[in-house]
Amino acid sequence: MPKITYIDLDGAAHTCEVANGLSVMEGAVANGVPGILAICGGSCACSTCHAYVDSAWLARVGAAADIEDATLDLANERRPESRLTCQIQMRPELDGLIVHVAKND
Ligand code: FES
Repeated sequence: MPKITYIDLDGAAHTCEVANGLSVMEGAVANGVPGILAICGGSCACSTCHAYVDSAWLARVGAAADIEDATLDLANERRPESRLTCQIQMRPELDGLIVHVAKND
């Protein structure tokens, strides 16, 4: 199964198996990764699943769609590498993905 490494706000790495088709947010929640709150449950409305895509993975992950871009404006400390993890679907080419959890509270 593909893996994602989530780096939490304390710098701790959480490497988790996340099935293709699940979102990066769903993988975090299922594995108890701290800091991914996902209050809206993945409907792209809250921004509390905000994370920074590691620079090595930006091109493969791709850019946010317009609706995600608008919701990201609600996020704390938005950066160019910001994404809402509920909007990134796991797929084979993302095996090994690294994301850095943002401050979501
Ligand atoms: S879970 Fe609410 S925007 Fe991602």
